[in-house]
Amino acid sequence: MESGTRATSLLTRRIKSPEVAASIIRDGGLVAFPTETVFGLGVDATNEAAVERLFRAKGRPSDNPLIVHLSRPDDWRLAAAELTRNAQLLLNAFAPGPITVVLPKNDAIGDSVTAGLATVGIRVPDHAIARTLLRAANRPVAAPSANLSGRPSGVHWKSVLDDLDGRVDAVLCDDGYADDFQRGGEPSGTVERHESPRIGIESTVVDCCGDVPIVLRTGAVTLEQLRRVVPSTKMLASVAGLATLNSQGRRVNSPGLLHPHYQPQADVRLIDAWTAESIASAATLHADRDETIAYCGMDDPKTLIDRLELCARFSSVDEYAANFYEFLREADRHSVTTIFVQRAPCEGIGAALLDRQRRAAS
Ligand code: TXA
Ligand code: MG
Repeated sequence: MESGTRATSLLTRRIKSPEVAASIIRDGGLVAFPTETVFGLGVDATNEAAVERLFRAKGRPSDNPLIVHLSRPDDWRLAAAELTRNAQLLLNAFAPGPITVVLPKNDAIGDSVTAGLATVGIRVPDHAIARTLLRAANRPVAAPSANLSGRPSGVHWKSVLDDLDGRVDAVLCDDGYADDFQRGGEPSGTVERHESPRIGIESTVVDCCGDVPIVLRTGAVTLEQLRRVVPSTKMLASVAGLATLNSQGRRVNSPGLLHPHYQPQADVRLIDAWTAESIASAATLHADRDETIAYCGMDDPKTLIDRLELCARFSSVDEYAANFYEFLREADRHSVTTIFVQRAPCEGIGAALLDRQRRAAS
């Protein structure tokens, strides 16, 4: 098939071979694949037509740049013009892993990938299947999170298909389900599950173009961890996510911050804890026949428990992060109208989870 000329798929294959996934990507196709953070939707970053098709499949605004995925840090030349000292330090410390460094882009990467910016985000996932795919693809793979734009990211391949079935060519299943040999067959549910654990929150995005690294998006690699490697690292001091100036007066921005993100159909209400007030508010909602409520958090929902359609309690912030997006999606499957979400504690990955919770609620 001619590169970049594929029409929208009518059928999304469930596959299990990273090599097959790589060949579909090399042919200009779109393949969802697992990483250690969330599922990505991969496409050949050097194929302009395929990149455009990716934006359409996700309904993604064209001003939101894509992260380019590589099989190893040494491959940075496939996408970037220069590896700055700060990027080198951070990649040495955290890659492969949940970090994306933003660098000046090279000419192989077109404007559609970077949304017209002169920079490109690169990331080396710490996930065996993803890296096998990237090695076999032997080219830079642009991959946003595998969800419809604005929706919670997909942490399981089934959630990816909830959003993208028929819009992408294949999904790489990481738990044994596949129709490599059974095109069109539904997963039987009888195969062994050996799903890899996932962080559940997207990578930390750090602008490394200037003297001071700037965190554009929080993630599993925390500000404290970054500062242990480059002490001057700062958070983007944004006003409502808008572009700001860095210490050298250069404009940095994270266009992705401007758009709605991580939003389920249900209304999301953030609470600190179950106070008399939040319990009363949930009880009032519950009394309304048309309202269905859910709760996720680390505390016990106390007396409310029998009024909840869905409830998830997590014993650690890591477990909360790993399951948060899936909980939002499960609430939608149950037609929940309001989700009470307990704010994550601001420690470790909690800061990134709290950021996602605020966006889900906004
Ligand atoms: O963990 C992750 O990062 C996942 C997995 C699949 O790797 N990917 C992901 O991609 O979250 P996406 O497209 O959902 O989010 C990419 C974020 C957006 O906020 C985007 O604006 C920002 O990275 N970004 C990408 N390239 C950028 C650049 N050149 N300058 C500034 N921000 C950039
Ligand atoms: Mg995303």
